[in-house]
Amino acid sequence: MEVNIGISEPIRMSISEGLSRLLADTYALYLKTQNFHWNVRGQEFYSLHLLFEKQYQEMAEAVDEVAERIRALGYFVEASFSSFKRTAAVKEEEKVLTAKDMLHSLIESHETLIRGARKVAEVADKDGDFATVDMIGRRLGSHEKMAWFLRSSL
Ligand SMILES: [Fe+2]
Repeated sequence: MEVNIGISEPIRMSISEGLSRLLADTYALYLKTQNFHWNVRGQEFYSLHLLFEKQYQEMAEAVDEVAERIRALGYFVEASFSSFKRTAAVKEEEKVLTAKDMLHSLIESHETLIRGARKVAEVADKDGDFATVDMIGRRLGSHEKMAWFLRSSL
Protein backbone atom coordinates (compact mmCIF):
# COMPACT_ATOMS: atom_id res chain seq x y z
CA MET A 1 0.00 0.00 0.00
CA GLU A 2 1.07 3.58 -0.68
CA VAL A 3 2.20 5.75 2.24
CA ASN A 4 -0.53 8.35 2.88
CA ILE A 5 0.49 10.37 5.96
CA GLY A 6 -0.18 13.89 4.69
CA ILE A 7 3.37 14.56 3.43
CA SER A 8 3.78 14.54 -0.36
CA GLU A 9 5.98 12.00 -2.11
CA PRO A 10 8.70 14.48 -3.24
CA ILE A 11 8.95 15.90 0.28
CA ARG A 12 9.15 12.45 1.85
CA MET A 13 11.85 11.55 -0.66
CA SER A 14 13.87 14.69 0.05
CA ILE A 15 13.63 14.14 3.83
CA SER A 16 14.61 10.49 3.48
CA GLU A 17 17.66 11.49 1.40
CA GLY A 18 18.65 13.86 4.19
CA LEU A 19 18.15 11.08 6.73
CA SER A 20 20.33 8.75 4.62
CA ARG A 21 23.10 11.33 4.90
CA LEU A 22 22.56 11.55 8.66
CA LEU A 23 22.70 7.74 8.87
CA ALA A 24 25.96 7.62 6.87
CA ASP A 25 27.47 10.44 8.95
CA THR A 26 26.46 8.76 12.20
CA TYR A 27 28.02 5.48 11.05
CA ALA A 28 31.21 7.23 9.92
CA LEU A 29 31.49 9.03 13.26
CA TYR A 30 30.65 5.85 15.18
CA LEU A 31 33.51 4.03 13.44
CA LYS A 32 35.93 6.95 13.89
CA THR A 33 35.11 7.14 17.61
CA GLN A 34 35.60 3.39 18.02
CA ASN A 35 38.89 3.57 16.08
CA PHE A 36 40.09 6.27 18.51
CA HIS A 37 38.86 4.25 21.53
CA TRP A 38 41.20 1.48 20.36
CA ASN A 39 44.17 3.60 19.29
CA VAL A 40 44.34 6.55 21.70
CA ARG A 41 47.61 6.90 23.66
CA GLY A 42 49.12 9.29 26.18
CA GLN A 43 48.55 10.66 29.68
CA GLU A 44 44.80 10.92 29.16
CA PHE A 45 44.57 7.40 27.73
CA TYR A 46 42.16 5.91 30.22
CA SER A 47 39.67 8.79 30.44
CA LEU A 48 39.58 9.24 26.64
CA HIS A 49 39.34 5.49 26.09
CA LEU A 50 36.22 5.47 28.31
CA LEU A 51 34.75 8.70 26.92
CA PHE A 52 35.07 7.43 23.33
CA GLU A 53 33.44 4.14 24.33
CA LYS A 54 30.44 5.91 25.86
CA GLN A 55 30.05 8.04 22.74
CA TYR A 56 30.32 5.25 20.16
CA GLN A 57 27.81 3.17 22.12
CA GLU A 58 25.32 6.06 22.01
CA MET A 59 25.73 6.34 18.22
CA ALA A 60 25.41 2.56 17.74
CA GLU A 61 21.93 2.82 19.28
CA ALA A 62 20.99 5.97 17.39
CA VAL A 63 21.51 4.60 13.87
CA ASP A 64 18.56 2.24 14.34
CA GLU A 65 16.10 5.07 14.97
CA VAL A 66 17.36 7.08 11.98
CA ALA A 67 17.15 4.07 9.64
CA GLU A 68 13.67 3.14 10.83
CA ARG A 69 12.43 6.68 10.22
CA ILE A 70 13.50 6.29 6.57
CA ARG A 71 11.40 3.10 6.38
CA ALA A 72 8.41 4.83 8.00
CA LEU A 73 8.59 7.52 5.30
CA GLY A 74 8.29 4.78 2.67
CA TYR A 75 11.88 4.21 1.47
CA PHE A 76 14.46 1.47 1.70
CA VAL A 77 17.61 2.02 3.76
CA GLU A 78 20.96 2.00 1.96
CA ALA A 79 23.32 0.33 4.43
CA SER A 80 26.69 -0.81 3.09
CA PHE A 81 30.23 0.46 3.59
CA SER A 82 30.28 1.67 -0.02
CA SER A 83 26.97 3.56 0.22
CA PHE A 84 27.98 5.11 3.56
CA LYS A 85 31.31 6.21 2.13
CA ARG A 86 29.61 7.71 -0.91
CA THR A 87 27.01 9.58 1.17
CA ALA A 88 28.80 10.70 4.35
CA ALA A 89 30.09 14.25 4.76
CA VAL A 90 32.14 13.16 7.81
CA LYS A 91 35.73 12.46 6.73
CA GLU A 92 37.53 9.32 7.88
CA GLU A 93 41.03 9.17 9.38
CA GLU A 94 43.30 6.44 8.08
CA LYS A 95 46.36 7.30 10.18
CA VAL A 96 46.84 6.93 13.94
CA LEU A 97 46.54 10.44 15.38
CA THR A 98 47.74 11.97 18.64
CA ALA A 99 45.08 12.27 21.36
CA LYS A 100 44.80 16.01 20.71
CA ASP A 101 44.32 15.53 16.96
CA MET A 102 41.72 12.83 17.67
CA LEU A 103 39.73 15.32 19.73
CA HIS A 104 39.97 17.94 16.97
CA SER A 105 38.92 15.44 14.32
CA LEU A 106 35.92 14.25 16.37
CA ILE A 107 34.73 17.77 17.21
CA GLU A 108 34.94 18.76 13.55
CA SER A 109 33.03 15.61 12.55
CA HIS A 110 30.27 16.16 15.10
CA GLU A 111 29.91 19.72 13.86
CA THR A 112 29.75 18.59 10.21
CA LEU A 113 27.01 16.10 11.13
CA ILE A 114 25.16 18.71 13.19
CA ARG A 115 25.11 21.29 10.38
CA GLY A 116 23.80 18.70 7.89
CA ALA A 117 21.13 17.34 10.25
CA ARG A 118 19.92 20.85 11.10
CA LYS A 119 19.17 21.47 7.40
CA VAL A 120 17.11 18.26 7.20
CA ALA A 121 15.15 19.30 10.30
CA GLU A 122 14.43 22.69 8.73
CA VAL A 123 12.95 21.03 5.61
CA ALA A 124 10.99 18.56 7.75
CA ASP A 125 9.64 21.37 9.93
CA LYS A 126 8.54 23.48 6.97
CA ASP A 127 6.60 20.54 5.54
CA GLY A 128 4.99 19.28 8.74
CA ASP A 129 7.10 16.15 9.33
CA PHE A 130 7.14 16.62 13.10
CA ALA A 131 8.25 13.06 13.91
CA THR A 132 11.47 13.67 11.94
CA VAL A 133 11.90 17.11 13.53
CA ASP A 134 11.53 15.54 16.99
CA MET A 135 14.04 12.77 16.25
CA ILE A 136 16.61 15.12 14.70
CA GLY A 137 16.15 17.51 17.62
CA ARG A 138 17.20 14.71 19.96
CA ARG A 139 20.13 13.74 17.70
CA LEU A 140 21.30 17.39 17.62
CA GLY A 141 21.13 17.62 21.42
CA SER A 142 23.13 14.44 21.75
CA HIS A 143 25.84 15.41 19.22
CA GLU A 144 26.13 18.93 20.62
CA LYS A 145 26.65 17.41 24.09
CA MET A 146 29.27 14.97 22.76
CA ALA A 147 31.07 17.88 21.04
CA TRP A 148 31.02 19.81 24.32
CA PHE A 149 32.58 16.87 26.25
CA LEU A 150 35.28 16.55 23.57
CA ARG A 151 35.97 20.28 23.44
CA SER A 152 36.26 20.40 27.23
CA SER A 153 38.86 17.61 27.09
CA LEU A 154 41.24 19.72 24.96
FE1 LIG B 1 36.60 -1.51 24.19
